[in-house]
This record gives sequence, structure tokens and C-alpha cells, in this order.
Amino acid sequence: MRVYFIGAGPGAADLITLRGSRLLGAVTMVLYAGSLVPAEMLQHCRADAEIFDTAELSLDEQEALYRRAQAEDKDVVRLHSGDPAIYGATAEQMRRLEALDIEYEIVPGVSSFTAAAAALGSELTRPAVSQSIILTRVSGRASAVPELESIARFAEHQATMCIFLSGQRLKQTIADLLLHYPADTPVALVRRASWPDQAIHRSTLSKLMSEVKQKDWLLTTLLLVGHALSREGGVESSLYAAGFTHIFRDGTDRKTPRPSKRKKTVENGA
Ligand SMILES: C[S@@+](CC[C@H](N)C(=O)[O-])C[C@H]1O[C@@H](n2cnc3c(N)ncnc32)[C@H](O)[C@@H]1O
Repeated sequence: MRVYFIGAGPGAADLITLRGSRLLGAVTMVLYAGSLVPAEMLQHCRADAEIFDTAELSLDEQEALYRRAQAEDKDVVRLHSGDPAIYGATAEQMRRLEALDIEYEIVPGVSSFTAAAAALGSELTRPAVSQSIILTRVSGRASAVPELESIARFAEHQATMCIFLSGQRLKQTIADLLLHYPADTPVALVRRASWPDQAIHRSTLSKLMSEVKQKDWLLTTLLLVGHALSREGGVESSLYAAGFTHIFRDGTDRKTPRPSKRKKTVENGA
């Protein structure tokens, strides 16, 4: 018996991985986070699968289901929104499974922050603009954020930032970001990325709060900030430059002939 933690992706039923959907279609017990995983995703399940929405269950009740599956020697899929490694409350489940001597495996998924970048048509790491992405949130009732990881502190880097779970504190979050990012820094709110009712609002840090109502962006919303969101500025990377030689391609800058593939492999120690 094994538990599979599967990333269901950001919402669209076809953004689960092939591996995730195959496993979902194979097991007879499924636990899913109904607050974020669309019911449509359950179309991948077997007709005889027992399906439980964890939004209505405590951790103890979920553990009782894992125990029952263990007693009945049934594999279980635990579906998490996006990728299970990010704000999934998976660590506490894994601890309980380890205590019960139940094996588990994690199948990654498309996180909502990459789905939001796709919806915006943006690359979050742009040469000479930002090469780092900070994934963070503000403190909430369920989990506090360590002071060293406050938005105000991260803002000092002026990197691309993707802020989860923070709709309730939008006004304060923008004020904290403005402590370090310039007022004209691009921001975007993306609600329900990849769902049919996906919504986007683009602005700048100084203008955003005068343009939106916080109550419209409370749930299933990401705030993205940083100059990478702008179409302007930045440079092209050298990667595809004609005059740039690298291990897989000769550029016009190459002076000496490339050694044979066999020799290069030996030189690389591969
Ligand atoms: C409990 S966290 C889960 C994050 C998830 N593990 C992931 O990788 O995206 C829920 C938060 O993720 C963000 N989120 C999840 N799905 C989203 C979507 N489709 N569009 C925008 N934000 C989303 C929101 O900030 C939401 O409050």
C-alpha cells in the first residue's frame, strides 16, 4: 500500500501530469483539496473510487482514512493544488505516514505561479532584469511567516516576487513592497489562473490600490511584482547569440575546430 501525493496543477483539468492522471485513474481511494482542486479533475478517477474532499476533514480524520487504506491494502492518491511542495501542508501528512510505516511518493505538478506567468505571457527571470524568483506569502491564521522572511525584507532585493495567500492583506503588502521597489514597478494580480473564469489586473505598485477592490482578489489569487513583468528593458541572453559557442553549438566566435564527440565526452569525464 502506498500514498501518492500528486500535484493537480493550477486548475485546468488537463494541466495535471500524465503520471499524475495515470495514478489517479488507478487507485480506489482519493483524497483531494476541494477548495482548490476542481471537481472536473475527478473525471480522471475510476468509477468505483471512494473520493473524499479534505476541505471538510481534520488531519486526524485524514490519518484515519490512511489507516483504513493500509488495513485494506489500498493505494491512495492525495491530490494537492499546484505542486505539493508549495503551501500544501504535505510535510505534516508525510510525518504521520512515516509514523504509520506507510510508503509515499510525490508526483510534482504545475504550480499556480508558473500558470500565472503563462497567463501574463511573462518570463519571470529576464537577463539583466531579475534572475531570481521569491515565492512567499504574508502571515495568515493557519501559518505565521518568520520575521526574517517578511515582504519588506524580501523587497530589498527587487527580484521577481510571487506572493501567495495574501489577498486579505493586499493593501499592507503593497505598502511593504513600496519600501524598496520603485513606484512604477509593474505588478499583476492573477485570480484563478488557467480556470475558465481566470482574471488578470496589471498595474504599477503606486497605482494598483486605487484601481482594484481588495474584496475582488481575496481567494485563489497571486500577486506578482517586478520589472520582469514589463515588456521593456533587459537584454538578450548570450545563449542563442550567433557569436556564442557552448557545449552543444559552435558560434561564429569559435577559432579552433570542435574535437570529435567521442573525445569531448572523454574530456568532460562523462
Ligand atoms: C494553499 S496554496 C497552494 C499553492 C499550490 N501548491 C501551488 O503550487 O500553486 C493556495 C494559494 O495558491 C495560489 N493559487 C492556487 N491556485 C491558483 C490559481 N489557479 N491562480 C492564482 N493563484 C492560485 C493562491 O495564492 C492561493 O491562495
